[in-house]
Amino acid sequence: MEDVSTVPRPDGEATTGGTAPESTGSGSIRYVDLDPADAAQIDTYTRTLAARHGSSTAPALLDGAATYAHRLPERLVGELLSLRLFERSPALVVRGLPVSDDEIGPTPLDWREQARPATVPARTAHEVYLVLVASLLGDVFGWSSLQNGKLVHDVVPMPTEEREQSGHGTVLLEWHTEDGFHPLRCDYLLLLGMRNHDAVPTTVAGVDEVRIDPAHREVLAQPRFLIRPDNEHLNRLRARAEGATAMGTAMGMGMHSIQRMQDEPEPSAVLFGHPDAPYLRIDPVFMSALPGDREAEEALAALVGSLEANLCGVALGPGDLLIVDNYRAVHGRSAFRARYDGTDRWLKKVLVTRDLRKSRAHRSAPHERVLL
Ligand SMILES: [Fe+2]
Repeated sequence: MEDVSTVPRPDGEATTGGTAPESTGSGSIRYVDLDPADAAQIDTYTRTLAARHGSSTAPALLDGAATYAHRLPERLVGELLSLRLFERSPALVVRGLPVSDDEIGPTPLDWREQARPATVPARTAHEVYLVLVASLLGDVFGWSSLQNGKLVHDVVPMPTEEREQSGHGTVLLEWHTEDGFHPLRCDYLLLLGMRNHDAVPTTVAGVDEVRIDPAHREVLAQPRFLIRPDNEHLNRLRARAEGATAMGTAMGMGMHSIQRMQDEPEPSAVLFGHPDAPYLRIDPVFMSALPGDREAEEALAALVGSLEANLCGVALGPGDLLIVDNYRAVHGRSAFRARYDGTDRWLKKVLVTRDLRKSRAHRSAPHERVLL
């Protein structure tokens, strides 16, 4: 196993010897460039694992991912452990993984589309990279209500969903905390660029970057806000629950619990954690202050305006991996025009929780990674 003791600290020093990868900061986003030798090592290693396991979500690969991940280049491992431990930046972009436009084949028109056999080795290898990186931050998980419980999602524009507030739309995707309505939302969201010829930006803003008036801060830290589930969860759950024979099934339970969050959302705070460096839970399109609470409304509007003003864009090109700390940053996407000809923007996505155990009531077995 590689030595993993090199963990760059927030001041740029490593805990023990070694040097951090080439890195720069830009607002909320920290950029790290893999050197070519490290990128080549990752490519070879992930292709070997992909060939051995056949799928990026094969149980044996997922079970061993944290062990496999420690054989990634030491400097990358250190950077990821540092992100987790020191929370040095709300978002990190790791650039340099080689992704060949020819090898991955055309951008799918639907996340359900089957890959052509010739494209499987490269696609699987790139997904393995995502899974290994994710496993250094926590455990990969999925929702039964999203992409049929798949653990690695394809984020592609779909002709039937152009106007949806989801990864499959092409209208402006308003920035948000990922699955902000749900107490079991992810700690990290990972997006790996496969193709982005039009340089469509993913947008990010970190809560650290914004100045919040102390009076507003106090209000925002109180449970005076309601966040309802987004349409993607609700639509898919309704469609699937209709197919279930009874609401007493596991699927029915999932539907029931998310429907309850829609009908009777529990008031939540927008800011939580340490008052000097708060975490954030916000999704303006699907949230409001409690009815009649003008003070909360005003504080929310002020924070929304500040985050909006601090939003920065990152166009994820092939091989660019964006990691968003879902407690410290919001993310969205600019509007774009899709061609639906196999050349559109295409990202791979995984969700990571730091503690899978917390969701045990929503999973059928301790090792099960899909929340019902
Ligand atoms: Fe999102």
